[in-house]
Amino acid sequence: VWVVDNIVDKQQSYPQIREAAEWLRVGEVVAFPTETVYGLGADAANTEAVEKIFAAKGRPSDNPLIVHVATMAQAESVVAAIPPLARTLMERFWPGPLTLVLPKRKGAVSERVTAGLPTVAVRMPAHPLALALIEESGLALAAPSANRSGRPSPTTAAHVLADLNGRIAGVMDGGPTGIGVESTVLDCSQTVPTILRPGGVTKEALMEVIGHVAEAAGQEHEPGAPKAPGMKYTHYAPKAPLWIVAGSPAFLQRLVEESRAEGKAVGVLTTEEHRGQYAADIVISCGTRRALETVARQLYDALRRFDDANVDLIYSEAFPEEGIGVALMNRLRKAAGGRVIHEQHE
Ligand code: TXA
Ligand code: MG
Repeated sequence: VWVVDNIVDKQQSYPQIREAAEWLRVGEVVAFPTETVYGLGADAANTEAVEKIFAAKGRPSDNPLIVHVATMAQAESVVAAIPPLARTLMERFWPGPLTLVLPKRKGAVSERVTAGLPTVAVRMPAHPLALALIEESGLALAAPSANRSGRPSPTTAAHVLADLNGRIAGVMDGGPTGIGVESTVLDCSQTVPTILRPGGVTKEALMEVIGHVAEAAGQEHEPGAPKAPGMKYTHYAPKAPLWIVAGSPAFLQRLVEESRAEGKAVGVLTTEEHRGQYAADIVISCGTRRALETVARQLYDALRRFDDANVDLIYSEAFPEEGIGVALMNRLRKAAGGRVIHEQHE
């Protein structure tokens, strides 16, 4: 595995980008940074290459992948048509963390990318390295997050290597990603655009542009994926069980003390505002409540740090579900397998 160091200036032509693009053209998989999380890319038109993504991740192959493009022409080449509403959204939010599900163009991408669906998910990432790689390769890239299936998504090249070293051709290191949670997936193949997965572009921002937006019932839509609870409960999960605590810091601290009295090593996930109120085996602050973007950016790294700390149990604060907080709580709930403890008030 080669690692390309921290390149940020896409104006310069780097031999490493050419090398990565060459790997992609011969059907290998390469991890690269986007503005959300690191992706594991392969030529979307090459079934054998796409199969290597599923193999490296250990991902169920009936979950479709997002196709990453660098130009509108490339987007047009993979979809059957771009309805006016979708075009408006592309003009407003691309490049950026918005994935649009549209009717696919027959034969443009491998059936393994779309899991046999009549639609394809497309996005143009807002990261100079991602765009440079796509342009240099000349390929539309199928790319899920570059983590082992079930693990927190990677927001640094080190996270990618921790999960996939030896399983991929290489990783381009663009430093820590800016947004930290995945793109918003919006289904534009129906009459009313529907959010299938909350993400980097908020519902409020979408509504400012297109008025009405629906939300899919339940959580992340995974067509064909096993419906068993065990399946969805392994998403983004740290090794130790995580509990979301909806209540005061004092209440959370009492839970910590009860668990430690049972001999358990306990971790706490908090923010700058409350970090001083906890005594536990490890206390991780992942940002400030005044700007939930900071929490979203550091969430996955924090979840991985609890693994390194070898705790038996993690208690996390809950966050307001507004703006980016919706995506944040969506991921936190999945990491917790839906476990929430509510403080009782009399
Ligand atoms: O930010 C992101 O979106 C990252 C970076 C790497 O771009 N990618 C990412 O990919 O999160 P992945 O594979 O982990 O998530 C893809 C999501 C899944 O929820 C999948 O079910 C949905 O997109 N999806 C893909 N194609 C779809 C389709 N045709 N119809 C409905 N949902 C689809
Ligand atoms: Mg993922």
